[in-house]
Amino acid sequence: MCGIVGYIGNAEAVPVLLNGLAKLEYRGYDSAGISVYHDGIYTIKAKGRLANLAEKIDKEDTLSSHMGIGHTRWATHGAPSDRNSHPHNSQSGKISVVHNGIIENYMEIKAFLQEKGYVFVSETDTEVVAQLFDYYYEGNPVETLSKVVRKVRGAYALAIMCIDHPDSLVAVRKDCPLLAGLSSDGNYVASDIPALLEYTRDYYLLDDNEIVFLTKEGVTLYDLDGNEIHKDVFRVTWDIDAAEKGGYDYFMMKEIMEQPEALRKTVFPRMTETRISFEDISLTEEEIKNFNRIHIVACGSAWHAGVVGRYVMEEVSRIPVEVDIASEFRYRNPILNQNDLCIIISQSGETADTLAALREAKKQGVKVLSIVNVVGSSIARESDDVLYTWAGPEIAVATTKGYTTQLSLLYLVSLYFAKVRGTVEEEHLNEYLQELRLLPQKTEEVLKLDTKMAELAKKYAQSEDVFIIGRGLDYAAAMESSLKLKEISYIHSEAYAAGELKHGTISLIEEGTLVIAIATQERLFEKLVSNAKEVKARGAKVIAIAVEGNLAMEEVADEVIYLPKSGDIFTSSYNVLPMQLFAYYTAVERGCDVDKPRNLAKSVTVE
Ligand code: AGP
Ligand code: GLU
Repeated sequence: MCGIVGYIGNAEAVPVLLNGLAKLEYRGYDSAGISVYHDGIYTIKAKGRLANLAEKIDKEDTLSSHMGIGHTRWATHGAPSDRNSHPHNSQSGKISVVHNGIIENYMEIKAFLQEKGYVFVSETDTEVVAQLFDYYYEGNPVETLSKVVRKVRGAYALAIMCIDHPDSLVAVRKDCPLLAGLSSDGNYVASDIPALLEYTRDYYLLDDNEIVFLTKEGVTLYDLDGNEIHKDVFRVTWDIDAAEKGGYDYFMMKEIMEQPEALRKTVFPRMTETRISFEDISLTEEEIKNFNRIHIVACGSAWHAGVVGRYVMEEVSRIPVEVDIASEFRYRNPILNQNDLCIIISQSGETADTLAALREAKKQGVKVLSIVNVVGSSIARESDDVLYTWAGPEIAVATTKGYTTQLSLLYLVSLYFAKVRGTVEEEHLNEYLQELRLLPQKTEEVLKLDTKMAELAKKYAQSEDVFIIGRGLDYAAAMESSLKLKEISYIHSEAYAAGELKHGTISLIEEGTLVIAIATQERLFEKLVSNAKEVKARGAKVIAIAVEGNLAMEEVADEVIYLPKSGDIFTSSYNVLPMQLFAYYTAVERGCDVDKPRNLAKSVTVE
């Protein structure tokens, strides 16, 4: 998690660092800090949001400097406090480090250094990097960093400054995101592109264990043996506005409203009236015909997209599908077969568990197709094939357009496989494709429920528990809806397979408990009406989400939200939309920080 930024150049460093951190704050916001070169290394840090750091810096007379490093933290080792905030400096005061990730063997290194007389002041794992760098340092920062990298285990992105070298910065990454930005006004490192987009569009996308040496004139990359590495510059083409709020109060609302456009960009270039074309993947028709099983692996909302993917894939292509949570998959010794395919789903492309699952699949000789939003991210680069969701940068911690564009690609992939394997008739396929073409337009229509969902949120914002029920694809939507509600409004919520509620959980329903019944599957609609009746009989307030024309819920529910007809497999793209709006307005109503919910961070780069 966490955001790192580093700068060296002609401009004043402090505003560049603060500005960059502001763009990265969605990655972690327990504390923030910077070190700059200003008659030596000058470090200033503050617990809490970036605004606290900015306030502290404002109180300084001048902090003129042309190089520095900055950090916004998502604590893993040690409470969020001033002392545990980054940057961490060596005891000598000569080295300053910002770190994203976890140093797994930090205890061992700490004990080793303590024996040599090093005294530690924080509870973090990061401090060992500063001290170890100091211990190994013999004058050359690149050589020193490669010694550090050989000694530490874990996942990290590090940016380091050294008092003897006011004209350079060094950085490295392993399993955590970091890229180098290049400009005529100086050079940068950062965890993510939005931090630097206002300064440059040219980047080096770094691979694991590549050491970056930055001066104001240039960026040089080395391997751990000190050999220079040459790589192409990656040019960002998306617009800077894509990473700004554009008049909305929160990124989340902007991103909800961007869904029609994101879907257009993701779906339309890959289909015609009668054909799906994946020119960007290398899987052959032969391989697709021979698939034995598909393993979909992801975390959080991306896993929910995978659950939808399983229903759809099995329905249309008749390939058996397993869906796993990445943190479980990686340690359960999964049985994979040569003719299996692994589909990895990740918005950020950097989620640590998902990346590890990908590596496990590859290790066992299974091909990996990934669905990723961030171009050039680790998961995208390590997969055999990658399909990008063209959703643009997603900043709000709660995913919305990331999720719905993932679904749209899962539809396309499932139908593509079905066509190749002959499990869908031409006529049927054309109907499906016709429906897919309508996806952006119908999404736009459903988002007009905005005002209605705001009203409902106002009414139910003080609920203590919310149960969300559904069957089949509606159950997947219930899980995603429940996660949205929990993560941003902090209301306790549970998603239940509607038929399962009466096996225990129904005992929690009492007078006034809110139950949301998602009933958009034609063939399961009546079952849901009965389940809604069961909770209603026990005093629940019921909001139902149904498809136009299915009026039976009106007799049971307190409120019914209608979605356009779309055919069963596509309902997942629509039933989650009112719930995104409901979660958003509930969070606003409760005074929560919608984009930066407590304890969370956007990109989960630790286990
Ligand atoms: C979604 O709202 C969550 N913030 C979270 O569950 C997220 O989907 C999960 O961490 C996976 O992230 P990824 O798609 O970037 O891999
Ligand atoms: N493990 C480090 C800490 O707890 C870095 C966490 C982060 O990535 O923000 O301070």
